[in-house]
Amino acid sequence: MLSCLFSKVLGEIMDLTKEILRLKKEKKAVILAHNYQRGEIQEIADYTGDSIELSRKAMAEKDAEFIVFSAVDFMAESAAILNPTKKVLLPCLGARCPMAQMLTVDEIKRAKKQYPNAPVVLYVNTLASCKAEADVCCTSANAVEVVKSLNADTVLFGPDKNLAEYVAEKTGKKLIPIPANGFCPTHLLFQPEDVKVLKMQHPNATVMVHPECSGEMRAVADFIGSTSKICTFTKESSSREFIVGTEQGILHRLKKENPNKTFILAYDGAVCPNMKLTTLDRLYTSLKEEKHIVQVPPAVAEKARASLERMFQVK
Ligand code: 13P
Ligand code: SF4
Repeated sequence: MLSCLFSKVLGEIMDLTKEILRLKKEKKAVILAHNYQRGEIQEIADYTGDSIELSRKAMAEKDAEFIVFSAVDFMAESAAILNPTKKVLLPCLGARCPMAQMLTVDEIKRAKKQYPNAPVVLYVNTLASCKAEADVCCTSANAVEVVKSLNADTVLFGPDKNLAEYVAEKTGKKLIPIPANGFCPTHLLFQPEDVKVLKMQHPNATVMVHPECSGEMRAVADFIGSTSKICTFTKESSSREFIVGTEQGILHRLKKENPNKTFILAYDGAVCPNMKLTTLDRLYTSLKEEKHIVQVPPAVAEKARASLERMFQVK
């Protein structure tokens, strides 16, 4: 009975995968997937990566008519801004990063008034309308270099307070978080006590965390980096066991690329529900019905593009 059900599900997945691949060819589409996407989405994607790698891929795309962005809203928006000649599809409109919603344009304007000489650095996890107000954007992969490149000791930085603290530690500059307490609800779930227990059970394990984690989590980490930096570090490390302090989806890629290494999620409920909204069904419907096309008003897109391009000039 169970094996019968399993074969049925497997059959359905295979049929959907076949249909997606057929539609992808017919519609001249590329599928970009974030490292947190479901395993089956990562498998069908043309490219899987972190937010800066996906932006670069989207920007460089020449041949495709459609870019299907399997991730969350702000990443698809950046693709639409960086490559306005392509139709960028977000398979599920509800896939919105809650951290990106924590910063408003009004908040940025208020902070600018209070600190008129401080440049505004915004994490790409922001809405396009906020990026349009920034001096430069950054991702978790290049935030330290971006802030270092500025000729200023005080910097307005948003929306992730944890990333702001991490960058301040690395650069010695004063980072004023906007809003005062922006955070990622998924990375907030990681607790250092859990890592300490796991370390007792796996004393040789290397601890890797994303900079969106709290300072307490960073303090117990052996390595801190963006999702793709975590993947590169794992490949190059001689360690055989890893405790992972970032979203669960990354395990798919880590296990695939390192079949002889073992990975333990630092908290097994660390799932970003928004990243998981992209399913094979929704990807299929998105391609078939050419929805949902991401649109950014041209005036906003122009200013936001300038902030993103300034980031690419740094790293
Ligand atoms: P990366 O840039 O490391 O992929 O992170 C994006 C993100 O949303 C992390 O929560
Ligand atoms: Fe946003 Fe956190 Fe999900 Fe990343 S993991 S997309 S920051 S909610």
